[in-house]
Amino acid sequence: MVAEALRLDAVSRVYGESGTRVTALDNVSLVLPQGSFTAVMGPSGSGKSTLLQCAAGLDRPTSGRVFVDGEEIADGSEAALTKFRRDRIGFVFQQFNLLPTLTVMQNVTLPLKLAGRKIDRAGARAVLERVGLGDRLDHRPSELSGGQQQRVAIARALVSRPSVLFGDEPTGALDTRSARDVLVLLQEAVQVYGQTVVMVTHDPVAASYADAVLFLADGRIVGHMPRPTADAVAAQMTHLGDLVGV
Ligand SMILES: Nc1ncnc2c1ncn2[C@@H]1O[C@H](COP(=O)(O)OP(=O)(O)O)[C@@H](O)[C@H]1O
Ligand SMILES: [Mg+2]
Repeated sequence: MVAEALRLDAVSRVYGESGTRVTALDNVSLVLPQGSFTAVMGPSGSGKSTLLQCAAGLDRPTSGRVFVDGEEIADGSEAALTKFRRDRIGFVFQQFNLLPTLTVMQNVTLPLKLAGRKIDRAGARAVLERVGLGDRLDHRPSELSGGQQQRVAIARALVSRPSVLFGDEPTGALDTRSARDVLVLLQEAVQVYGQTVVMVTHDPVAASYADAVLFLADGRIVGHMPRPTADAVAAQMTHLGDLVGV
């Protein structure tokens, strides 16, 4: 029995007031086991980012519950939510979001510092070596390529040993080769280190690195594809496009 890393029970997220209501997520339930790599795909506006933000405790569902490692994301104070995120969640964005004035090492250890945790420089260095940046510890983000910056962001997300690592189009701003490096890194985090990864992407090739793909349309899960190939994912996406008229 593999333990659950992430569970969503009937999660909905509605934005706006009556006249402009948008149901971004509509009653989504899912369970992802520890050590799984899931890609989330769907047309623009289908709720992918909202799903990630709710699952990661960055946004609060309008209804429904989210569990990480079996523990429900607190419905409590903002401080409690922040602590939950710092302890259990890693998040990687399309635009890296590194702090330009800090070095690579300082960027990676910042979350530990903010969480008031002991700064394990040897551990941070080991993670940076894993992502191939062991010789760039004192560089600033502007001295690195986009692919290298994203690998710093992944190291920063991994250093606190999160239960789940989320990426919202983490390869969206990268060239093909850098994207591949990042995808291999995520795959290795799962296969070698047992990390759980959930990645939004619009690229069927990127999705094919995952163990399974979840397809969203109009805020609902409309498909699940284990062992995806790029061709099969592309075909399914075309079909989804037909369904929702994009
Ligand atoms: N903060 C917000 N306020 C109002 N509507 C939003 C907000 N965020 C997202 N939406 C709407 O929710 C729907 C899903 O958005 P999103 O999750 O960003 O989709 P995706 O990431 O799949 O492109 C869209 O119709 C979008 O316009
Ligand atoms: Mg999005």
